[in-house]
Amino acid sequence: MKSLNKNIENHYLKEGLYEEIINRLKEQNIALNNVKRSDIAGADEFHVRGATVSKELANSIELNGLNVLDVGCGLGGPCRMLADEYNCQTTGIDLSNEYIRTANKLSELVNLNNKTTFIQGNATELPFEDNVFDVVWTQHVQMNIPDKKKFYSEINRVLKTGGYFLFYDILKKGNGEVNYPMPWASNANLSFLFKTEEMDEFLIKFGLTKIQSTNQTQTGIDFFDTLVSRLKEFGPPKMGLNVLMGETTKPKLMNLLAHLKTGELELISGVYKK
Ligand SMILES: C[S@@+](CC[C@H](N)C(=O)[O-])C[C@H]1O[C@@H](n2cnc3c(N)ncnc32)[C@H](O)[C@@H]1O
Repeated sequence: MKSLNKNIENHYLKEGLYEEIINRLKEQNIALNNVKRSDIAGADEFHVRGATVSKELANSIELNGLNVLDVGCGLGGPCRMLADEYNCQTTGIDLSNEYIRTANKLSELVNLNNKTTFIQGNATELPFEDNVFDVVWTQHVQMNIPDKKKFYSEINRVLKTGGYFLFYDILKKGNGEVNYPMPWASNANLSFLFKTEEMDEFLIKFGLTKIQSTNQTQTGIDFFDTLVSRLKEFGPPKMGLNVLMGETTKPKLMNLLAHLKTGELELISGVYKK
C-alpha cells in the first residue's frame, strides 16, 4: 500500500507548484498583495466544472459556520471557498506533500489561513477522533483508493451524528475498458473505479441516509465541450488545470470526456446524512 500511495503522489507531483502559480499571477500583472480567490480558482479546484460545482455542492445544505473536513483536498480551493463565503472552519487532508504545501501557502496568500488547516495524510487512516466534523466533503478522490470500505468507514467515523457527507465523484457506469491517462491516474494501476450503487451500498450499510443525488454527467460533458472550443480559439488558460497537469492535460481530459460520452463513466454528486 505504501508503494501505491507513493506512485499516486508521484502521479500528481508537480514540483514548485506554488511558485508556478505565483509566476502566472505575475504574468497577468496581478498584485501579490491583492490576490483574490477567483484569480487562482482555475488551478485550485481540481475536478470537472471547478469552482461552479463546489458552490452548488455547498448550497445543497445549510452549512454556514460549520466545521468541515475535505478528504483529498488537493490545493484547497473548496476549503477556502467554504471558509470565505460560508464562514466555515475547514480542514483539508491530502496524500500529496506538495499539494499540502501549496494549499497552505495559497491560504496565506489570500488571507484565509486562520480559517483553513491543511495536513498531509491518508484518507483511509484519518488522524482525527470519532464524531468531530459537522460536514465531510470529498470531490474526485476515491478513484485512487482501492479500499473503498475503509475510505467510507473513515468518513463515517469522523462525521458527527446528524452531520452531512457531501460528495462529487467520478464513478464507473458501463463494464467496458477505460483508457488512460486520466486526470487521476497515468495508468490502470493507479485507478480503482467502482459503481454508484456500490458506493450507496457502503454508505447505507454504515447507517447513513441518502438525502439527495444528482447526475452531473451531461453538465460535465457540456462544460468540457465549451472548454475544448475555448482552447481551440484562445489556447491554454493562464490559470487552469494545465498548471497542475502540464503537457498531459489534453490527453487526460479528452479521455475523461470520451468515457463520459460513451457512458463508461458518470459524474454524480450527492448528500448523505448520518
Ligand atoms: C483529482 S484531485 C482532487 C483534489 C480536490 N478534491 C479538488 O477537487 O480540488 C485528487 C486528490 O486526491 C488525493 N488523494 C488520492 N489518494 C488519496 C489518499 N489515499 N488519501 C488522501 N488523498 C488522496 C490526491 O493527492 C489528489 O490531491
